[in-house]
Formats: sequence, structure tokens, C-alpha cells
Amino acid sequence: MIIRSWLFVPGDSEKKMAKGRENAADALILDLEDSVSDDRQDIARELTLAFLKANPDRSRQQLWVRINPLDSDLSLPDLAAIMGGAPDGIVIPKVKTAADINRLADYIRILEIREGVPEGQTKILSVATETAESLLTFPTYLENVTPRLSALTWGGEDLSAALGASSNRNPATGGYDDVFLYAKSMCLATARAVDAQPVGVVYVDFRDLEGLEAECLRDRQSGFIGKAAIHPAQSEVINRAFTPSDEEIEHAQKVVQVFEDNPGLGTVGLDGKMLDMPHLKQARNTLELAKQIADRG
Ligand code: COA
Ligand code: MG
Repeated sequence: MIIRSWLFVPGDSEKKMAKGRENAADALILDLEDSVSDDRQDIARELTLAFLKANPDRSRQQLWVRINPLDSDLSLPDLAAIMGGAPDGIVIPKVKTAADINRLADYIRILEIREGVPEGQTKILSVATETAESLLTFPTYLENVTPRLSALTWGGEDLSAALGASSNRNPATGGYDDVFLYAKSMCLATARAVDAQPVGVVYVDFRDLEGLEAECLRDRQSGFIGKAAIHPAQSEVINRAFTPSDEEIEHAQKVVQVFEDNPGLGTVGLDGKMLDMPHLKQARNTLELAKQIADRG
């Protein structure tokens, strides 16, 4: 299922989790990592499990959990604590190589069996660019990565710290600096190569909804589907930006139609423009995306 908006909610805040449940986000990411302080880890695990159990119907909004990085002592207790709530997926931060994803998949499988969760149900979202190593190991995703991996996203904040950068911005343009754009590009290409959903990065200035919308449209143009959010006001903007408009759907239908009307032709004309196979593929993608969004109701 396509998830447009992924809203991070601190896993130790009952109030924010309740608020998140009423929000338009297609998925919540209940966070046990950076938004929870060490002395609140136990209470966060308890509250997150209770929230998952209290909300078994995920048809409108999925519930994912971000655990701590695998090389931290917190990660396995996080996972063991919450799997009984049957989260739709696990978000794994500070990944170093795809071997981390496969290791997580093994842990998840054992816990699914222990908890009576259908085997294979729990998906994985990799936060694929938060360590220096991660920028050098993208090809490992192409070596038999687990089919649980359903989405990849990138991060500019932890990566700055990992690289020793004092800012992730290019002072001349205000946009991301080179190495961060590299991370973004590799995330997109790798996600597409393994048939996972490429998810756009968090827009940290959460009061600037116009800036968020512009970045969503830019992400979508590049090939990303959906975006992570940190504030409830961001979800509707993201949903709108990643939903094909009526005009886009109509155009895509025309493109598919003109190829159907001309079987055997690889290139056709429509409204004075040349169309070939990439345009047909793009049109089919748009219609598939629109259908998946419509089906979720
Ligand atoms: N999920 C659910 N509810 C949230 C929320 C979130 N991520 N962020 C804010 N809210 C709630 C607030 O509790 C507040 O509720 P109220 O009106 O009932 O009091 C309302 O939305 C408006 O919030 P606002 O006052 O505009 O923001 P804030 O100053 O309370 O919070 C942040 C700002 C950044 C601390 C907050 O948005 C947050 O915790 N974001 C998630 C951070 C996170 O998970 N980071 C890790 C991933 S990078
Ligand atoms: Mg972080």
C-alpha cells in the first residue's frame, strides 16, 4: 500500500499519539529513538505497545515503530517489547549496510512467531543515509535484501553529524549541499532498484507549509512517493502533493488509450507531442498510484 504521509510521533507521549490517530497521516511512526530521552525508554515502550494494541484497525492509518539503531543495546529490547502490538512495520535508523536490514528481518521473524503475528506481515522502512558507511554501501541492497523492505528514506540531520558537517545547506543556494544531494539521489535510485517506495526527507521547518509543499512537489517530480512529517499540520499538505490531480489522471488515461488504439507502435503522437515507452510507463505509474490512493478510501 502506498503511504503518502508518515508522521513521527514521540512514543512516550500518550497525548501526541492520540492526536496522531485523528490526523490525516497515512501512517504514524511511533518513535522510540531520538525523540525519547534515555530515562523514558521503558515508559515509551509500554505506552507504544498499549497504543498499538488499542488500535488494531489499520485500514485508514498504519502504525509503524522506529526502534533504536541495531548497534545500540536498546534496539532488541525495543523490538521485543512492541512486536506483540503487531506494528505494520519497523523503521530502522542509522543503517550501515543492507546486512542490517536482513538481520532485523530475522529478529522480526522470530518475534512474529512468538507473538502469533502472521509471518512476513511486518514491513521495514530503512532510514538509509544517517551514517558515513551508508553512503558507501548502497550496492549491498541489490544482494538479496529481504522482501520485508518496503520503503527507504534518507536523512540530512544525523548525516551532518556523522560527516562532521556544521550545516547541511549550500550557502549559495539555501538548498542541500552536495553530499546530501548525493545521499538523496542514492536513496531514490536504490529504492527504485529494489522495488521499494522512495520516501522524501522530513521538512524540518514545520511552520513553513508553503516551503513544505514546494519541496513535496520537487520530491515527487524526482520520483519520490510520500514524505516523512514531524508535525500534524504537515500531513494534509503532503497527502495533497502526492495525490495525482484530476488533470494528471486524465492525461495519463489519454496516453494509455492512444497506445491501446495503436497496437504494435512504440512511438505515437498526442496533442502534437511525441510519446514513447517511458511516457507509457509513467502514465501507468500515475494511474496505479491514483488507484492505490482511491482504494484506501
Ligand atoms: N504528533 C502528534 N501530535 C503532535 C505532534 C506530532 N508529531 N507535534 C505536535 N503535536 C501536537 C501538540 O501536542 C499540540 O497539541 P495540542 O494543540 O493538543 O496542545 C499540537 O499538535 C500543536 O503543536 P505545536 O504547539 O504547533 O508544536 P509543539 O511545539 O507542541 O511541538 C515538536 C513541536 C517539534 C516538538 C513536535 O512537533 C514533535 O514532537 N514532533 C515530532 C518530533 C519527532 O518525532 N522527531 C523524531 C523524528 S525526526
Ligand atoms: Mg534522528
